[in-house]
Amino acid sequence: MIPRETIDRIFATAKIEDVIGDYMSLRRRGANLWGNCPFHDEKTPSFSVSPAKGIYKCFGCGKAGNVVNFVMEYEQCSYADALRQIAKKYHIEIKEKEMTEEEQQQENERESLFKVNEWANTWFQQQLWETEEGKNIGLAYLVQRGLREDIIRKFQLGYSPNKNSLFYAAKKAGYQEEFLIKTGLCGISQYNDNADDDKPARPFDRFRDRVIFPIFTVSGKAVAFAGRTLKKDHPSKYVNSPDSIIYSKQNELYGLFQAKQHIAKQQMCYLVEGQMDVISMVQAGVENVVASGGTSLTNRQVRLLHRLTENVTILYDGDPAGIHAALRGIDMMLEEGLNIKVVLLPDGEDPDSLSRKMNAVDFQKFLQDNRQDFIHFKTNLLLKDAGNDPVKRIGVIKNIVQSIAVIPDIIARQVYVKDCSNILEIKEAALLKEINKIRREKYDKSKTSATPDTEKPAAETTETPQQETTVVPTESTTRTIQPKDNLEKNILNIIQVLIKYGNFSIYDTTVGQYILEEIQNNGITFENPLYEKILQEYALHKDDEGFVSETFFKFHTNSYISSLAIELISDKYELSKIFGKQNISENVRVEEKIPTDADRLEQLVPQLIYELQLTIVKEKLIFVKYALKHAQENHKEDEMIDLLKQSMQLKELEKQLCKLLGNRIGG
Ligand code: CTP
Ligand code: MN
Repeated sequence: MIPRETIDRIFATAKIEDVIGDYMSLRRRGANLWGNCPFHDEKTPSFSVSPAKGIYKCFGCGKAGNVVNFVMEYEQCSYADALRQIAKKYHIEIKEKEMTEEEQQQENERESLFKVNEWANTWFQQQLWETEEGKNIGLAYLVQRGLREDIIRKFQLGYSPNKNSLFYAAKKAGYQEEFLIKTGLCGISQYNDNADDDKPARPFDRFRDRVIFPIFTVSGKAVAFAGRTLKKDHPSKYVNSPDSIIYSKQNELYGLFQAKQHIAKQQMCYLVEGQMDVISMVQAGVENVVASGGTSLTNRQVRLLHRLTENVTILYDGDPAGIHAALRGIDMMLEEGLNIKVVLLPDGEDPDSLSRKMNAVDFQKFLQDNRQDFIHFKTNLLLKDAGNDPVKRIGVIKNIVQSIAVIPDIIARQVYVKDCSNILEIKEAALLKEINKIRREKYDKSKTSATPDTEKPAAETTETPQQETTVVPTESTTRTIQPKDNLEKNILNIIQVLIKYGNFSIYDTTVGQYILEEIQNNGITFENPLYEKILQEYALHKDDEGFVSETFFKFHTNSYISSLAIELISDKYELSKIFGKQNISENVRVEEKIPTDADRLEQLVPQLIYELQLTIVKEKLIFVKYALKHAQENHKEDEMIDLLKQSMQLKELEKQLCKLLGNRIGG
């Protein structure tokens, strides 16, 4: 947590034109500075920076914001990380507050691991470029694989010599053995070299005798390494850093740091398997590419990508086993709402080998020409396998329908249904019926697992499976806010009140302050970055002179924030029941004093917080219920007792919240 005062200081000190000027060239024209927008492709500048207002705005793509927004957008990092980065530039010390001793220790350890990695990354590169062994063996290998010097440097490839030299060099440079082990740079050998029991087991260099591919976080910190052997037929071609407190294989995508701007600019990302594929493609001029690193894609990686683009093109090598294995992971991406395209490579080729066989122009043309839509691709592929066997064909249809059913966007589903109806020679209506059935089942399942009084999620009311015909319901296209579940609905209720009435007084404070404190005190996070940002923006500006919440958000420079605000302010989006006009007129008899806004807010705001808490408690209860069942089946008694305790506490909390809500609604 960065303290408020520090945030204020960072904002006060940072000059937006200098910070942005570090990333791109700006030219002064009149009061503002101009440059080519880093967020979309352009040749003449439509990106402006106003030093006076402290904001940037692109008249081309509409991206706008303040200095922190810029760094967040450019680096694809969190608010706090952006602040830290700017603070570093201006030598503003950040004293993070409210960390327990344990957290502090963890943080120190994380920092130490990153420091060791940073050192090792430099060291590996020195070995590659500056030592005889590195040049003759490591560099020679990379050059023989066709890599150019600028590309080797861009990806900061390195070399680890054929001895335990890293271990000794690190010790000499003052790094502790503990961190060498914890980063995985060194391992502890199981056996003692000379069977002398007094001698402790000796650490060895994990990556010795390999070329090194550092793996970076989105913001460019070396978080892990992959080492490739130079020998043919070595049993382990690649060795990777083990998971640690800073690294989880499942969380990173190789090449994302180098690719992120290109992905955002081109609004598309190529997904390949290996490090060499990424590097070779970049060398061939295709820079929007990342690799999953040989494991199947995880949810976390998919989200990471989704932050940058909706469009992913997967490159497959043509062997059937590979394709079928890869197909399995893809429903996850469809479910996340990504548009997936596929390029099938000739049998036996991977992107690395193919890009080296062609020149850059031909390779890029090949990718362009061979891109097919994923559902199309899958349908044709499975159909070919099935041949004329009717039973198999039914299997194919079911399989395809499953994939289409997970796609969240109704219009996208419609398009695929049309498409598949043609390929599969099945009536659209029949496919739709099948899809509706699956969606209905999924919906029912999510409903029965929730408590009985859970309301139907609003998103489903505009697109209940039954309504899904080939005609797109107009409502779903005109309404932009569609909370996906109760939780989001509760959160939106709170955001709505924050925007409309943030600066109104209730109790001894303001609505906004009350909400901030409750959220903070109860450890609630909004998950959705837009909602989080609204809270942060409120916190940041609430003390500005003449601050009026509604005006502030309505005219916010971030267009996502302003359009959400406008919609929430308009009557189109009436979420909070208690606040409905009819509710008030019903409850208030003529002779009674007409309640002021503040009176109503004092009732409404706590209620909304309780509702949110209740939803969270209910979700936790569902989770505990499943965990309990699982523990029971596996006879894990200790776990069961723990879970039962949790369950009881949650139920108690639920009861209290219900009571609080009941009292409020009733009284
Ligand atoms: N991989 C791994 N460990 C292995 C083999 C593979 O981690 N023992 C991962 C690597 O990320 C590798 C990817 O899986 O890049 C794909 O494996 P493979 O196709 O065998 O390697 P290539 O990428 O073709 O590597 P190279 O071209 O260097 O042979
Ligand atoms: Mn290869």
